[in-house]
Amino acid sequence: MLAISEEDLNRKRLECDPLADNAMEEVARVRGEKAIKGHYVLRAVQDLGRLSEDSHCARFIEFYEQEPPWEVDWQMWELGRRVFVRNSVFAGLVLMYGSLVSSFTAAYGNKVLSATGRISPNGDVRRRLFETLFFVRAVVLGSSSEIKEACMRVRLLHAAVRRHLLHRDGGWEIENFGCPINQEDLAGTLSTFSSVVVDGLEILGVSLSKTEKDAYQTLWKYVGFYLGMTSDLLCDNYEEEWKLCNMIRVRQCKPDPDSVVLTEALLQEFASKNPFYLSYNFSSSLSRHFIGDDLADELGLSRFNMLSQVIMNLLYWILRTSCFTQRRVSFLEHGLYKFGKYALNTIVHLSLGGREPSFIMKVYS
Ligand code: HEM
Repeated sequence: MLAISEEDLNRKRLECDPLADNAMEEVARVRGEKAIKGHYVLRAVQDLGRLSEDSHCARFIEFYEQEPPWEVDWQMWELGRRVFVRNSVFAGLVLMYGSLVSSFTAAYGNKVLSATGRISPNGDVRRRLFETLFFVRAVVLGSSSEIKEACMRVRLLHAAVRRHLLHRDGGWEIENFGCPINQEDLAGTLSTFSSVVVDGLEILGVSLSKTEKDAYQTLWKYVGFYLGMTSDLLCDNYEEEWKLCNMIRVRQCKPDPDSVVLTEALLQEFASKNPFYLSYNFSSSLSRHFIGDDLADELGLSRFNMLSQVIMNLLYWILRTSCFTQRRVSFLEHGLYKFGKYALNTIVHLSLGGREPSFIMKVYS
């Protein structure tokens, strides 16, 4: 049962991730500042961990040798992965035009993304987003050790960004925005990969059972644990997480000029291009469809024209019918799973040119 209050969340804005932050500090001290911006941060942490069992780096590595403190139901976990994979094309749409845009409206959390500038007119928006898709692919198709390694890399990247922003000239306005990549923001962002995707799929017409929703949430709870979230923010089921997500939304989702710049950079970069080839106006209206009129008005997003509205209604009924049929005809579910897996692997491979992401810190400001 989720027992978190507004005061708790206020405190969570000042809480970061000491395990990763201390390991990063150690790398910077022993190997120099340059090392934390390089390709081999994880290698450096592993090397320093081997040198001394008593070091922060050793403790960071040890963390990944354990399983989570709750009993992971691997069958549910697998069911959650299938939910995403067989709907991967639509889940991709939700992640890009729903989850991301709604995270941009978080007026405290978005300051970190604005500060690094990868999602901006001068940034490398496309690569940044496909690297995140690579991570999602690891979560829904990789083995548990691949997931752990992806989490290690992203967690260290988060620690490097945090360190950079706290030490940069002019520092960071902790009193206004909280610490960079703090625990409340981690919980809010985790939900954009988890319950917000479920919500977006339902908006499109994909109907999921309570068990499927819980199964998908279980998967991301596991990811949250390995990304360094504290146990009090890791929810036990979909309903709890949706509640926490909405609590954070009410506190944070107040679009500001940074939200508009981030959203515009995303919509412009992908307008009429792969992977979805949606026009600027259609994708802008799609974002409105996902995040709702109140937030969309503040971001200045478009509305569907009559034809697009008809297409969306049609899609809704096609997806509803398909979900109904999949429950009764198992080979249809298998076929959609195979197609989803192929689509996800192909998009990730082509978009990154077959190269794995480096997960290194880049700053474009
Ligand atoms: C628990 C939820 C989160 C997940 C699953 C997640 C996932 C990721 C992934 C996969 C990357 C690598 C992307 C790349 O290398 O291009 C990344 C990088 C990054 N993340 Fe997160 N993240 C989470 C929370 C957050 C939060 C709360 C913030 C800030 C408020 C944040 C800010 C960043 C930044 C600044 C980067 C570096 C790339 C950039 O400058 O845009 N992340 N994250």
